[in-house]
Amino acid sequence: MGRFDHRSVLVTGGAGGQGASHIRAFHAEGADVVIAGINEDRGRALADELGARALHVRLDVTDENSWSAAVQASEEHFGPLSVLVNNAGVQNPAAPIETTDRRTWDRILAINLTGAFLGIKAAAPSLRRNGRGVIVNIASTSGVGGTAMYAPYVASKWAVRGLTKTAALELGRDHIRVNAIHPGVIATPFITEPAAGSDTPISDFYSAEPFAIPRLGEPADITRALLFLTSDEASFATGSEFVIDGGLLLGPALKHEAA
Ligand SMILES: NC(=O)c1ccc[n+]([C@@H]2O[C@H](COP(=O)([O-])OP(=O)(O)OC[C@H]3O[C@@H](n4cnc5c(N)ncnc54)[C@H](O)[C@@H]3O)[C@@H](O)[C@H]2O)c1
Repeated sequence: MGRFDHRSVLVTGGAGGQGASHIRAFHAEGADVVIAGINEDRGRALADELGARALHVRLDVTDENSWSAAVQASEEHFGPLSVLVNNAGVQNPAAPIETTDRRTWDRILAINLTGAFLGIKAAAPSLRRNGRGVIVNIASTSGVGGTAMYAPYVASKWAVRGLTKTAALELGRDHIRVNAIHPGVIATPFITEPAAGSDTPISDFYSAEPFAIPRLGEPADITRALLFLTSDEASFATGSEFVIDGGLLLGPALKHEAA
């Protein structure tokens, strides 16, 4: 028996680095999984690999009609949703605010922030029909502090925190919990491949060496926290923020010899 038997889980960006890890783990724990995203080849391949209890749907999180169709397809296959994970996200090419163009700003906000807003809007009625539900928004440690050269991304992730808390207040009485996870730097294409409009991946200039846990995070580090938060074990947690960053937000851990 799995923790997610008879529950349907929709993960946006479900074929991406972290998304695929989440999908596999929910599926292994008994869930019906919906791999929702714009990467159709990888989404379909993952659904084929998992077989029964897995569905791929094309979803552009910035498009309200695309959201309605994705939730409808999920319901047709698996019934009302139990869990929504707003995981899809993109990074802006590194640039100071003064040289960041308006189109870049709008694109990052549209995917990272408006995408999560539209997701909550589209999924809430389905979660309500289910009788109870959980939403997790994947924000970032960049939504807790500032990061030079990444204003659109940082602003989008700060805003997702406010959206999370407001949704938790609005939906709590309907037995729907809403929380946020703040990953640190996780080894996925997000950091190993250049962002659209950029030549340099973040992994070329980031080092985990100064931090308390001096390694990159793995998708599984986030998946384990996500499964806890979306399970009944976290039944009293809502509107909260969970930092999974190996100590990044703590700042550098001085070595004994240097202290
Ligand atoms: N990797 C990190 O270091 C890191 C750190 C903190 C937060 N995050 C966040 O974690 C989440 C997952 O990122 P990841 O590391 O798996 O990166 P990733 O690039 O592997 O996955 C991102 C996914 O989002 C999808 N996506 C992009 N635009 C979309 C759209 N318009 N509609 C639907 N899907 C879309 C992509 O196709 C991809 O599958 C993102 O929200 C990201 O901001 C990542």
